[in-house]
Amino acid sequence: MKILVFAGSTRQGSYNRKLAREVAAMARERGADVTHLELGDYDIPMYNADLEAQGTPADVMKLKQLFHEHPAWIVCTPEYNASYPALVKNTLDWLSSPVKGDPVWNDDFRFSRGKVVGVLSASPGALGGIRSQSHLVPLLLNLHCWVAPTTFAVSRAGSAFDAEGHLTDEASRRRAGAVVEQVLWAASRLHTS
Ligand code: FNR
Repeated sequence: MKILVFAGSTRQGSYNRKLAREVAAMARERGADVTHLELGDYDIPMYNADLEAQGTPADVMKLKQLFHEHPAWIVCTPEYNASYPALVKNTLDWLSSPVKGDPVWNDDFRFSRGKVVGVLSASPGALGGIRSQSHLVPLLLNLHCWVAPTTFAVSRAGSAFDAEGHLTDEASRRRAGAVVEQVLWAASRLHTS
């Protein structure tokens, strides 16, 4: 099963990247073919329909293809002001915008329809960014994704990882692993080819 794992942060010391790497390793241990995506590697401007009218940026097209190729995704999102960051919204807005005149990409949800998505978050706060999830899940449903009902939020993220970036707490590893297993389980049933 091909699975795309990414964090909604480009910050160098991002807790959500640590979490993304941790769940990526868990997915590999369970036999998945994992791609770790760094959103910061892609040049995605703030969405503007005038800009788009001049041509969809090349990196948006690359990301559309990358997301399309993966039947399952896992996103580890920060919480900004009780929601998810603009980076995540802007990326998904660009990806969902049809490419006018393009027979392949002239469909809002070609990149996302039917994808099985696991949602996790990490925050230095006590709630672990759980409020970001309650906004991100409806967005994913609007993109025609199947969102795994099991989610996980890493609270007190500043002390949740060891020097190698691994979750130190056994219960946290178990809960993160449960999200990974549910995503792989559902994806293997929805995507049989
Ligand atoms: C935050 N942060 C934050 N944390 C939280 O738990 N709830 C919140 O509502 C917010 N709001 C918020 C707004 C803005 C503008 C910033 C910049 C930050 C703190 C945030 O969780 C923290 O910076 C994380 O470390 C960000 O995730 P990464 O980059 O470590 O993955």
